[in-house]
Amino acid sequence: MDWGLKNRLAKIIKPQNNRALMLAVDHGYFLGPTEKLENAKKTIAPLLKYCDSLMLTRGVQRTSVDPNTSVPMVLRVSGGASIIGEDLSQEQITVTMKEAIRLNVSAVAMSMFVGSKYENQTIVNLGKLVSEAEEYGIPVLAVTAVGKELGKDARYLSLACRIAAEQGAHIVKTYYCDNFRKVVESCPVPIIVAGGKKIPERDAMQLTYNAIKAGAVGVDMGRNIWQSQHPVPMIRAIRSIVHGNANVDQAFKLYQQLIKENQNKPKTAGQNSSNQNQKTQKKNSNKNSPKIPTTHQKNPKNNPNQKPKNFTQKTKPNQNKPKTSNTKSNNQNQKPKNPNQNKPQETKK
Ligand code: 5RP
Repeated sequence: MDWGLKNRLAKIIKPQNNRALMLAVDHGYFLGPTEKLENAKKTIAPLLKYCDSLMLTRGVQRTSVDPNTSVPMVLRVSGGASIIGEDLSQEQITVTMKEAIRLNVSAVAMSMFVGSKYENQTIVNLGKLVSEAEEYGIPVLAVTAVGKELGKDARYLSLACRIAAEQGAHIVKTYYCDNFRKVVESCPVPIIVAGGKKIPERDAMQLTYNAIKAGAVGVDMGRNIWQSQHPVPMIRAIRSIVHGNANVDQAFKLYQQLIKENQNKPKTAGQNSSNQNQKTQKKNSNKNSPKIPTTHQKNPKNNPNQKPKNFTQKTKPNQNKPKTSNTKSNNQNQKPKNPNQNKPQETKK
């Protein structure tokens, strides 16, 4: 691995602890104005200083991120399908490497749809992207997208992650599932987990905790942060798990404490607290904007005027609920291996 590629990777996965907190705000590339991301600039601004890297499209990077930031950008370079189109797996590479370099990104990202109609196209494109990106020392993040007909279980996800790594991806993003360790252990490159559709805050913290305990290096989380009623306390709580060795109880306590502190803060004119930001967004939000599916599933009826019925995935009760601390494999009461593990530190970058 050459110096440039290693250096860029080190900006995304912190070498001090081999952990990563990536904030995902790329959802508009196929979903349009997603709830609470209608105004990407407003959503991103208060969260930027708490993430290690930001995953986004070039449109959002150019229009909605302050170029003075030192936060590394992970640029989505694939697209070509929409939530109301025929098949979400029909993606191509839409951004050139020249453009990625001009935008000074630290990595490029694309989705790969194993088991879907356009599987071949997306896997071949991943291989080509890796070859091209490596010429310039740019790492590639492979996003393992899941078609609705495919289960998000360890068998399928380890297949998808392994294929991504075999094509040369430097980081793989996937979903958390039961027996997640199997997914991690059969993938020779670092794995980060998506948050998926919005779940209660404590459950998202549990998912983060479980994924890291099973070997993920961190998260690539979007909706469970910026769709929270309290995005800043939420990202700080997630950060305390990823970088501060907090357990779920400690992270949730921090979350509640930060909300309280924020509520007790005297509000000055023009102050953009996390609550105010959310209120403004609610007011401005397009009530008809589609709800985001957990997976890249298509709307079966290709009719833009019809309210898509499939936007919210039907879930079995508890399907998305990560196992809580009293489950055997993820027992937070287990004796920590690291003596500092129980000392949560809310780290700043
Ligand atoms: C959208 C993506 C997202 O970046 C990824 O799914 C993470 O976001 P979330 O935590 O909201 O699932 O790849 O296509």
